[in-house]
Amino acid sequence: MNDHYPAGRWDGPAIIVEGLQKSFGEVHALRGIDLVVERGSVLCVLGPNGAGKTTAVKVLTTLLEPDGGRALIEGRDVVRSAPAVREIIGLAGQSAAIQEELTGRENIEIMGRLHHLSKGESRRRAGELLELFDLVDAADRPAKGYSGGMTRRLDLAASLVGRPTVFFLDEPTTGLDPRSRIGMWGIIRELVADGATLLLTTQYLEEADELSDEIVVIDRGKVIAAGTGDNLKNRIGGDVVQFGVVDRTRLGDAAEVVRPLAEGEPTVEEETARVTIRVGSRGSDSLVQTVRALDGAGIHTEHLGIHRPSLDDVFLALTGHTPEDGTRPSRSRSRRGRRDGVVPDATTRQRT
Ligand SMILES: Nc1ncnc2c1ncn2[C@@H]1O[C@H](COP(=O)(O)OP(=O)(O)OP(=O)(O)O)[C@@H](O)[C@H]1O
Ligand SMILES: [Mg+2]
Repeated sequence: MNDHYPAGRWDGPAIIVEGLQKSFGEVHALRGIDLVVERGSVLCVLGPNGAGKTTAVKVLTTLLEPDGGRALIEGRDVVRSAPAVREIIGLAGQSAAIQEELTGRENIEIMGRLHHLSKGESRRRAGELLELFDLVDAADRPAKGYSGGMTRRLDLAASLVGRPTVFFLDEPTTGLDPRSRIGMWGIIRELVADGATLLLTTQYLEEADELSDEIVVIDRGKVIAAGTGDNLKNRIGGDVVQFGVVDRTRLGDAAEVVRPLAEGEPTVEEETARVTIRVGSRGSDSLVQTVRALDGAGIHTEHLGIHRPSLDDVFLALTGHTPEDGTRPSRSRSRRGRRDGVVPDATTRQRT
């Protein structure tokens, strides 16, 4: 396949990634990733801390060279045709490329100059983007005084200066409050409505669900699952019921008592004395049954509740079935990650 097409000539997928590898010394950050993103669609790359999301984004945006495999953006190879790739992509990164001592407006204008716009054109474009991203009031203040949400918006605005057609957003909403997150989702949807192709990384299943056409779950540098949000949730099997056991010595009993109600094996976390079961789509029925069963056995619980699967749950379910993982699907798995992700195998997993 030729790796360089004049603008507009490529009519294959917007992003093609084959067997991509990247190591940092002993750390194999990418261990053979394959992806395809159709033009005008949104792919969410979902994974916990250290999964390789940022590394993948850096390779695809020409900031890092891969050790193996290849990646084409609109038919242009990210290594051999890096300058041509840079012309058509936009990147809003995890460590925002904002210069803090400059104002929001100056940041965007500089980006315009980097994209070879004239001074006047840069100024005009900055005005447009500041408006679009609701930053007009703050435009002439130094960016160091911006809130987290404003910084993300500015970073995204700056990445739009060159009118890219393929976007990479690395965890665009991590650390944002719920309102800013929803605002960011709105902006992202507008980009897509304008026909852009988007590759978005996130640690939140909910976000992937909201925004994506396709989801790829990666862990330790490998794709462990791919499909639509519904596909993945069906694999997880609907809702999750979770509770803490007050008397730790009864943790094992509790798991036995709820086992008949669970799809698959109950997950027991020794450290936190918590039990989790997957209950499919039976909703509150399964909650009532759980309470009755535990009551009947005289087991006292706390924080009992039902919820949609979180990334933790998805992850536990997916990695539990990964052959290389070694351990069985988690009947008694004592080490789980906190809200920042899951540590499916704490001994081998590289944390950032
Ligand atoms: N420059 C580097 N030097 C050494 N190791 C690195 C470097 N960049 C990344 N790594 C390692 O590569 C692995 C993947 O890191 P990466 O930043 O891609 O993960 P991530 O999925 O983006 O995580 P997070 O959700 O925390 O942003 C980690 O083990 C990380 O420590
Ligand atoms: Mg990252």
